[in-house]
Amino acid sequence: MKGVIVLQLKGMVIEKFGKNKWEEALAKAGIYKEPIITVISNVDDNTVVAVVNSLCEVLGISLPQLGDAFGDYWVNVYTPKIYASFYANAKTAKDFLLKMDDVHIAMTKNMQGADPPRFGYEWEDGKTLIMKYISKRGLIDFMVGLIKGVGKYYREDLKVTKLGNDRVKIVFP
Ligand code: HEM
Repeated sequence: MKGVIVLQLKGMVIEKFGKNKWEEALAKAGIYKEPIITVISNVDDNTVVAVVNSLCEVLGISLPQLGDAFGDYWVNVYTPKIYASFYANAKTAKDFLLKMDDVHIAMTKNMQGADPPRFGYEWEDGKTLIMKYISKRGLIDFMVGLIKGVGKYYREDLKVTKLGNDRVKIVFP
């Protein structure tokens, strides 16, 4: 996984819960000396998942709660500053989400070692979208949190439900 995700996860944890909690979670995951990573570093997926699980334990929250906190931070704090044009080019949450598969491909095309998640789209009815999650990382709870973050950004009351480990149902208002 690209370092940018880990750095923003760290930023969110430090801002909301404090630096000690981040350090405690690393130690719990067996990392006693934090490596220096940059946005383009490749961080081993198993290490990221281990840190994510340790964070849940140290913070006393569930994986969906951590996913919600990360999703809110990524979509409402970090990316609007860095990738403002993606937001300017989508007028609604639906427009934005429908572009996410292309955005992930385009964003990571020139990043060596990137392996972006892919998304499939299937309409159940005019208001109900099933978004398929294709990734071997198993971070569907992050996807749910990110989608909720998009609803908040566009001030739309989306109903977001996880359907197993590879699909999310989104009902638009
Ligand atoms: C402008 C907004 C966004 C940008 C620029 C962006 C970019 C990225 C990048 C660069 C990665 C790392 C990929 C890699 O390491 O190969 C990533 C991971 C991820 N993104 Fe996004 N993303 C955005 C919004 C979203 C949204 C709204 C969703 C939800 C549908 C989403 C779902 C995910 C997930 C679940 C991962 C974790 C990696 C995985 O599960 O395989 N992203 N994103």
